[in-house]
Amino acid sequence: MIVTTKKLFEAAYGKYAIGAYNINNLEQAMGLFQGNIDSQAPFIIQISKGSRSYTNKLMLEGIIRAADEVFPESIFAVHLDHGDEATCMDCIKSGFYSSVMIDASSEPYEKNIETTKRVVDAAHAKGIVVEAELGQLGGVEEHVNVSEDNAKLTNPDQAKDFVERSGCDSLAVAIGTSHGAFKFQGSQSLHFDVLSQIQKNLPGFPLVMHGSSSVPQEEVERINAAGGKLLGAKGVDASQFRQAAQLGVTKINIDTDGRLVWTRVHREYFLEHPEGFDLRAPGKIFMAEYAKFIAQKNDYLGSAGHLEEVRKLVS
Ligand code: 13P
Repeated sequence: MIVTTKKLFEAAYGKYAIGAYNINNLEQAMGLFQGNIDSQAPFIIQISKGSRSYTNKLMLEGIIRAADEVFPESIFAVHLDHGDEATCMDCIKSGFYSSVMIDASSEPYEKNIETTKRVVDAAHAKGIVVEAELGQLGGVEEHVNVSEDNAKLTNPDQAKDFVERSGCDSLAVAIGTSHGAFKFQGSQSLHFDVLSQIQKNLPGFPLVMHGSSSVPQEEVERINAAGGKLLGAKGVDASQFRQAAQLGVTKINIDTDGRLVWTRVHREYFLEHPEGFDLRAPGKIFMAEYAKFIAQKNDYLGSAGHLEEVRKLVS
């Protein structure tokens, strides 16, 4: 069942965070739905601009519609990740997305508000909710490429004004995470002080943490042992997700870790089966491994086991 992120955030606020997972193909869709059912968790499917054009935007939508029928107990939101204004408007028009993110965070403050407000007005007219971003995460994710020098933590004093004037329904904040597999040079530095200040200024308002993959070292080692070259990859300590949730983070974005699972499974499979060429063999392993990965993440997020409680809230 597709619901808005707003409903999921009402259930989760202050207690746990909902996993927001990026997908691109049917194997990821199958693993994602299975893992959330196995762990009895509500979830958010993230579709990026790049995943819409990987095959055809209708293809991914079709896969998700089918998955909804294959897993009728599931409860999830369909969310556009890092949209520009034109992509947001296209998703709003399509009627399939329950939530869009407008990322105008690279624009000057006033322009970010204006652009976000235009998307909010169009989305709200159709019952769709909007995530906006204030501050800038470092790292690379598709068309979003911000050097560490240009990354900016969210200014807690601007957050309230931004939310009030833009009308957005949730706010992505920059508190020290970054996109991709290479997040920290030394030890990790999440700014819970900044997060806590933002929550004080915006009590009860749902916050979003991007760039939250953990980049598990075991995964990186297995990839490298099977011929990969991911040197110095490092991520966010997943044991801190619950602390973030207590400070108002209701959505935690994870993309890179899922790609690492895919890379590990396929590298190991073809190393062990040099004679192999049936794509379904590693595909089957990947779907099972991805489901396991999702269920484990939901444990860290605290969303595991909350499916029935959310069902009561939405039905
Ligand atoms: P990761 O690169 O840490 O998985 O972050 C994904 C993300 O924030 C998607 O918007």
